[in-house]
Amino acid sequence: KQNIAVAIDGPAAAGKSTVAKIIAEKLTYVYIDTGAMYRALTYKAIKEGVSLEEETSLMNLLTDTTIDLQQSTDGQKVILDGKEVTLDIRTEEVTNQVSIVAKHGEVRHEMVKRQRELALKRGVVMDGRDIGTHVIPDAEVKIFLIASVQERAERRHKENLEKGFSSDLEKLKDEIRRRDQLDSEREVSPLLKAEDAIEIDTTALSITEVAEKILRVVHDKL
Ligand code: C5P
Repeated sequence: KQNIAVAIDGPAAAGKSTVAKIIAEKLTYVYIDTGAMYRALTYKAIKEGVSLEEETSLMNLLTDTTIDLQQSTDGQKVILDGKEVTLDIRTEEVTNQVSIVAKHGEVRHEMVKRQRELALKRGVVMDGRDIGTHVIPDAEVKIFLIASVQERAERRHKENLEKGFSSDLEKLKDEIRRRDQLDSEREVSPLLKAEDAIEIDTTALSITEVAEKILRVVHDKL
């Protein structure tokens, strides 16, 4: 049985990471969350007072930064310069600014280099915005997940409330729209469906249904 690469792309909060984790577990593949890498750099830049608009400063920062994605029994851990930041990179502050960091060409170039090294060993499920188009253009399976803004915001809203966080549905909709726009309109490798990607609209589907659809595509390739 051969090991392949599964690329999962799509807009913010479309369920990519939830589904990618399930698939990786079923296949005993490695899950790589590329968004976590952009988030970790954003978190560090904010903490160190580095301007998110300044590519050169961000590059200097990134050169001195290690980001490790560790698999653990209770999910993925994100380790920034040796310290765990798994939860710190999910704050609203980071979420609402990460797309600014991710628009810089040199930053993307370095991140893509690191991501390709991680994907060299097949048996990976990688999620992001440019995996099928740039990071692993030869991925055996490419999936593009979409869902309506309303549905994506409602899912996040529910998640927030379950975690006991305050949450405003209208605000979430605005933030999702804004992040989609920034990610789709940037000049360097914008969010785009690869020509050979399979698009799945998850608006009316459960997580299990989406995972099963993708697993069927994967099994056809094995
Ligand atoms: O997937 P997640 O929502 O955690 O990604 C956070 C942000 O990182 C995205 O909104 C996007 O700006 C950026 N990103 C990217 N390319 C990737 C993964 C994430 O530009 N491959």
